[in-house]
Amino acid sequence: MDNLAAKIEAAEDLKTLEEVRIGIFGKKGVLAAEFARMKEIPNEEKRAFAQKLNTEKAKLTQLFEAKKMALEAKAIEEEMAADAVDVTMYHGHSSAGALHPVQETMNRMIDYFVALNFSVEEGPFVEDDFHNFEALNLPAHHPARDMQDTFYLKDGHVLRTHTSPVQIRTMQRQKPPIRMISPGSVFRRDFDLTHTPMFHQVEVLMVDEEGKISFANLKWILEDFLRYMFGDVKVRFRPSFFPFTEPSAEVDISCIFCAGKGCRVCSHTGWLEVLGSGMVDPNVFKAVGYEGVSGYAFGLGVERFAMLIHRIGDLRSLFEGDVRLLEQFR
Ligand code: DAH
Repeated sequence: MDNLAAKIEAAEDLKTLEEVRIGIFGKKGVLAAEFARMKEIPNEEKRAFAQKLNTEKAKLTQLFEAKKMALEAKAIEEEMAADAVDVTMYHGHSSAGALHPVQETMNRMIDYFVALNFSVEEGPFVEDDFHNFEALNLPAHHPARDMQDTFYLKDGHVLRTHTSPVQIRTMQRQKPPIRMISPGSVFRRDFDLTHTPMFHQVEVLMVDEEGKISFANLKWILEDFLRYMFGDVKVRFRPSFFPFTEPSAEVDISCIFCAGKGCRVCSHTGWLEVLGSGMVDPNVFKAVGYEGVSGYAFGLGVERFAMLIHRIGDLRSLFEGDVRLLEQFR
């Protein structure tokens, strides 16, 4: 029996050890054969024989378990050594990432407003009717609701069609004066060269005591902001309509491709429309319980800015996740 312990000790890997185990402890193993000999042992010696055998078996089991643990640890170590990665090794093909042009454009916008002490606010993507429409002076059945191809959820909620509801949420939460922007994703049922079902807007809102904020403030900040984004451009205000502002204006910049001379991009008008703006409609203030205040608001599409700045023709290419596109913006 002594050589059984030696056999266990001699096993150099788990496979050999398993063979040894079967030879000793298996159904047809040495121990089974020894126990089978009980029959031939005279009765008065049976007890001593069995005791000796059991002690031997316990010793061998202990030895086997210890060996098994040692060999397993050794196997893991060998595997780890074989898999080792040299993280310091130079690799000529490693490449740096780049910000997505939409994110980069949005960051630039945020930088501008944060420098002027605007706070950055967020709101939910799944909005209720009140915040997305009603409080923004867009009551049910108002024809202007059709301007926005809304995704409706079964429970009456919507995917927000613009970042304007964050105006409402911020005013409900805070007292005037308010100076905020809200960058984020918005959703509309639209898909073509210049529209994707998900895109990004930045909403801007400034509110203070009645008379403190006028259209002149709106005009100043828009001219300053648009020159910060596009360089030396002319800025033009066109009377327009939005339910949440009165008066409202759409804002154009002189075409950055032809310097206003007229080209294909600006449809030979010399101007590019870039955002919507206006003085906050009294009904919006009423909806949030504000009195004796005035303010301006504007909202813009980040993709539109990114496409103009980077001369991207097809908006959809921004969302295909093709690294060859992103590599151009490093
Ligand atoms: N919410 C408008 C849209 O999604 C953009 C907008 C226009 C926001 C005028 C404003 C505004 O705050 O005054 O098309």
